[in-house]
Amino acid sequence: MNVTIPYKRRVLAWLDDLTDAARACGAVNTLFLQQGRLVGENTDAPGFWADLTHRLPQVAAWTHPRAVLLGAGGAARAVAWALSRQGWTVYVVARRLDQARELVQAFRVRGLASLFAYPWESRTDPAAPWFREPGPVLLVNATPVGMAPHVAASPWPEDGPWPQEAAVYDLVYNPRETRLLQAARRAGLPAVDGLGMLVFQAAFAFARWTQVDPARVLPAMAKAVGLSLPHEVA
Ligand SMILES: NC(=O)c1ccc[n+]([C@@H]2O[C@H](COP(=O)([O-])OP(=O)(O)OC[C@H]3O[C@@H](n4cnc5c(N)ncnc54)[C@H](OP(=O)(O)O)[C@@H]3O)[C@@H](O)[C@H]2O)c1
Repeated sequence: MNVTIPYKRRVLAWLDDLTDAARACGAVNTLFLQQGRLVGENTDAPGFWADLTHRLPQVAAWTHPRAVLLGAGGAARAVAWALSRQGWTVYVVARRLDQARELVQAFRVRGLASLFAYPWESRTDPAAPWFREPGPVLLVNATPVGMAPHVAASPWPEDGPWPQEAAVYDLVYNPRETRLLQAARRAGLPAVDGLGMLVFQAAFAFARWTQVDPARVLPAMAKAVGLSLPHEVA
């Protein structure tokens, strides 16, 4: 079965074991049975990375990749895990600085040291490293800001400022075109919504339960939600 908001952390107490990703993220979205034991998995993390590599391949291939991660909740943890394991530097920006610090500390304990906590107000501070230091930056929204019904809200000011070379990934998929994505596209930045992550995490969960190759189910899942995936996936 799948587990979603608000049970992704609460379910931990009921499980016999966790996969590495679930343990690191401290959140579970998929349960499966292994030799009679109930195991918790997190497919949001590989789902995010798979979607990034398919829909923003030029970003996934950056040589000195950095991300500004907005939010420090369950989904942010999955994104932080996915990116930091791929060698990314991740600036975790949250309205509760203690929550961002807790995330960073939890990852440090696991040997992932390239994460740093910042307060919410710093996201547009010209002194912040994503403005000050050269190199491309992926801006990831892992907050619900902009999600229906509050579609007029955005976690980033409409008219920027944007890092000098930037791309935007909004985990929100309802609506697909959030204010954040609209603003990013107006500024000429590559930008994608969270629908691809939703489809990939579902395909990876389905594969866990059935041992079916995720590539076999992706086209039907993508079609069901009106998502066009790059040709090589479909
Ligand atoms: N595309 C996908 O497949 C996928 C998968 C998972 C989640 N998501 C989406 O990702 C979003 C976050 O989900 P989640 O499970 O991580 O939720 P969560 O655990 O509740 O975390 C939300 C984070 O956003 C922060 N936040 C909430 N409202 C805010 C505001 N007005 N200003 C600044 N920060 C704010 C929260 O801070 P506080 O703790 O202080 O409230 C927290 O850090 C949701 O929109 C969800 O639909 C998408």
